[in-house]
Amino acid sequence: MDHSAYGTFAIGGDLAVDRLGFGAMRLARNGPDAAARDPETARAVLRRAAELGVDHIDTADFYRSPDGAVRANDLIRQALFPYPPGLLIATKVGPVFGPSGPTQGTAADIRPAVEANLAVLGLDRLDLVYLRIGWRTPPRGESLGERFEALAALRAEGLIRHLGLSNVDQAHLSEAQRIAPVAAIQNLFDPAGADEAALAQRAAAEQIAFVPFGGLGSGRGSARDERYATVARRHDATVAQVALAHALALSPNILAIPGTGSLAHLEENVAARSLTLTPDDIAVLG
Ligand SMILES: NC(=O)c1ccc[n+]([C@@H]2O[C@H](COP(=O)([O-])OP(=O)(O)OC[C@H]3O[C@@H](n4cnc5c(N)ncnc54)[C@H](OP(=O)(O)O)[C@@H]3O)[C@@H](O)[C@H]2O)c1
Repeated sequence: MDHSAYGTFAIGGDLAVDRLGFGAMRLARNGPDAAARDPETARAVLRRAAELGVDHIDTADFYRSPDGAVRANDLIRQALFPYPPGLLIATKVGPVFGPSGPTQGTAADIRPAVEANLAVLGLDRLDLVYLRIGWRTPPRGESLGERFEALAALRAEGLIRHLGLSNVDQAHLSEAQRIAPVAAIQNLFDPAGADEAALAQRAAAEQIAFVPFGGLGSGRGSARDERYATVARRHDATVAQVALAHALALSPNILAIPGTGSLAHLEENVAARSLTLTPDDIAVLG
């Protein structure tokens, strides 16, 4: 499947990626309480993703196996380096990985985190780095200023091309934009949530990529909803494919990053590129 019905979006106005990408969090483990996954399978998934034309991989240094030994970033480098031209690897900083998993860091943790991503991925510049300030939801009222200033300074140094924010609200976006341009926002998939809809709309108006996560199961109003099954039957598609096509149909600045460690699920998800929903489908899905 090499044709995308949904086209590309230019992150920061200059890095065009297919709107259906890939999330690397599930490569090393499939959820907070899950066991480690087989690294060879993970590398095969990454190689197949590249073969299928996936040109946007979302990762983080803190996406690791339960014992911390297998990192998604290692798997990406092992599978794909030297990277295919045009591959955008987006990463996140903010949390730091400790003995019991990630905890929120401070401004002082930003440079070491960026340097760790550069070193492990084998890059001299990161295309997109999100400052992730919350655990799936925005920490309302909390300032991101010092951490975002630290990240913006690394961009000014040439270590980062574009900056993003993750798990933020509109006040966080405004605070960050007073410091440096924001090219992408990554928040929990919540199409029915008024706050999320307003933020996504503002992102669209300002040409900011909106990258929802969790649309296949862990988000709100996601593929578990019976309405997705109804539309899937109409198209002889799967609920996962409908969930992905629905997210992409909501707005041209939305990028999907389905997370999987399964080859079969990867192929199924990428095939959603060619699933075009009708206006009636969209009405059913809301
Ligand atoms: N910024 C943040 O705070 C944040 C938080 C969470 C995630 N993320 C990013 O967003 C990406 C996606 O998030 P996510 O992985 O939590 O959620 P997701 O993509 O909605 O769901 C992933 C789950 O669905 C399963 N799955 C994938 N494809 C499937 C298919 N075709 N059919 C049935 N099940 C399928 C996966 O299991 P299998 O592996 O077995 O397929 C996995 O358990 C992550 O990889 C990560 O890059 C960011």
